[in-house]
Amino acid sequence: MDEIISVRNVRKEFRIHERPEGLKNGIGDFFHRKYICRTAVRNVSFSIDRGEIVGLLGENGAGKTTMLKLLTGILFPTEGKVTVSGFTPTDRKKEFLKGISFVMGNRSEVNWDLPAMDTFRYQQLVYEVPEDMFRENLNLLSVLLEVQDLLKVPIRRLSLGERMKMELINSFLYSPRIVFLDEPTLGLDLKSQIAVRGFLKAYRREKNTTVIITSHYMDDIEETCDRVILLGRGEKIYDGSIGELKAPDQPFKEIILNLIKDEKGQ
Ligand SMILES: Nc1ncnc2c1ncn2[C@@H]1O[C@H](COP(=O)(O)OP(=O)(O)O)[C@@H](O)[C@H]1O
Ligand SMILES: [Mg+2]
Repeated sequence: MDEIISVRNVRKEFRIHERPEGLKNGIGDFFHRKYICRTAVRNVSFSIDRGEIVGLLGENGAGKTTMLKLLTGILFPTEGKVTVSGFTPTDRKKEFLKGISFVMGNRSEVNWDLPAMDTFRYQQLVYEVPEDMFRENLNLLSVLLEVQDLLKVPIRRLSLGERMKMELINSFLYSPRIVFLDEPTLGLDLKSQIAVRGFLKAYRREKNTTVIITSHYMDDIEETCDRVILLGRGEKIYDGSIGELKAPDQPFKEIILNLIKDEKGQ
């Protein structure tokens, strides 16, 4: 086994400032700050091998995004240890950052006024991608995502699904070894959802990239992932194959049914 991600007994607490009601409390409040603790991730451990596609599944607020932020070094764990490609993510070393990519379905990295191609060229500079690798990757990605004809169109004139495809190209251009995708199909129509899933499977076959994907859509995970980690209120409650997860005698059947219902309700 070739371990690339290791998470050991990780806990993440957020300290939230609880502000008393009313303006007159404003100054006193400054001296008597009250905090409440919210635990987003509780004592979670897992390990992921190179080339795996793993789905982080869970209801809203289960801790999926927090987990990805811990893995990419955006957040420090309150307790425990995270190791990714041999690095401690929060050190934010250049070699670490060049080897990963983090795509958030609800946040855009591409400039809306420019054609995607201009953003890709900028990305090439930032990540120091040699020209032949850039061309090869861009060709593979735009063919897999069927957007060869749209590279020179300003992003704002593209559909939501087409924009997400450009985000994906932008994030895969520099051949990251590990890709973290947070709800990449959020808000997309069914056709685009299917295209994104198909792309992830085809790309992984081609490049053997390790992919961690979060979703509260059951279909995303079911179709793309080898393995599922289910989070419930910050705890890891299942780690294994999707087939077993859906077995009728599972104790967390209710969560699974909610996830399926959520999807149909969208
Ligand atoms: N920056 C933050 N400050 C305080 N609480 C947070 C912060 N980020 C997330 N949380 C809380 O942590 C929990 C997990 O959130 P999140 O990881 O975003 O869940 P998910 O992505 O599974 O929907 C939620 O209760 C959320 O309100
Ligand atoms: Mg989230």
